Amino acid sequence: MAQPSKPTSNYTIKTVGVAHAALLSSLQDAAYSPQGERFWSKTSFGETLLSHGVSANVVEVAGDPVGFCVMRQVTGEAEILTIGVIPASQRRGLGKVLLRNCINEATINGASTLFLEVRADNIDAIHTYRSCGFTESGSRKNYYRLENGQLIDALIYALDVKK
Ligand SMILES: CC(C)(COP(=O)(O)OP(=O)(O)OC[C@H]1O[C@@H](n2cnc3c(N)ncnc32)[C@H](O)[C@@H]1OP(=O)(O)O)[C@@H](O)C(=O)NCCC(=O)NCCS
Repeated sequence: MAQPSKPTSNYTIKTVGVAHAALLSSLQDAAYSPQGERFWSKTSFGETLLSHGVSANVVEVAGDPVGFCVMRQVTGEAEILTIGVIPASQRRGLGKVLLRNCINEATINGASTLFLEVRADNIDAIHTYRSCGFTESGSRKNYYRLENGQLIDALIYALDVKK
């Protein structure tokens, strides 16, 4: 687990599209691999980015992409589909930067609620969501099956993002 360090302030958020599917896939690979989660392929990112209401952002530090977030908004409901920061850049406030950017986008686009789903054992992510004001709004029992067969619940978190 990454230790906290000085918050990063010299970051840039960029909107990316289907041409960046390979970048998103490699960032996700780096962010998620320590916890042994399954990843989206470049093709999955490409297909998702072409679907209705989907948008993606990358956060860069000194010109290097270190984190990403993909969200979908259809009518009043927005959902974070995947978010990650590479391990070397975690605990510096960049997860919150990405989340706040999603919250702003959802509000500007007229969403009333922003949802996300998280594995119940993903403490880092749950801390991050709670620190941005998300609260638990439901769960899906035994939703995730790990490679060793262990079943883990999915938790649904939600935030009111109405203007
Ligand atoms: C979840 C994730 C994106 C958070 O990114 P991050 O850049 O490390 O998060 P931040 O530095 O912005 O931290 C946000 C808050 O969570 C807290 N936090 C993060 N990890 C924590 C931990 N392990 N223990 C305690 N607090 C933690 C931070 O202290 C901060 O709280 P604060 O604002 O009160 O100081 C990152 O851990 C990650 O990429 N994980 C792997 C991929 C993943 O699990 N994605 C989510 C799947 S649902």
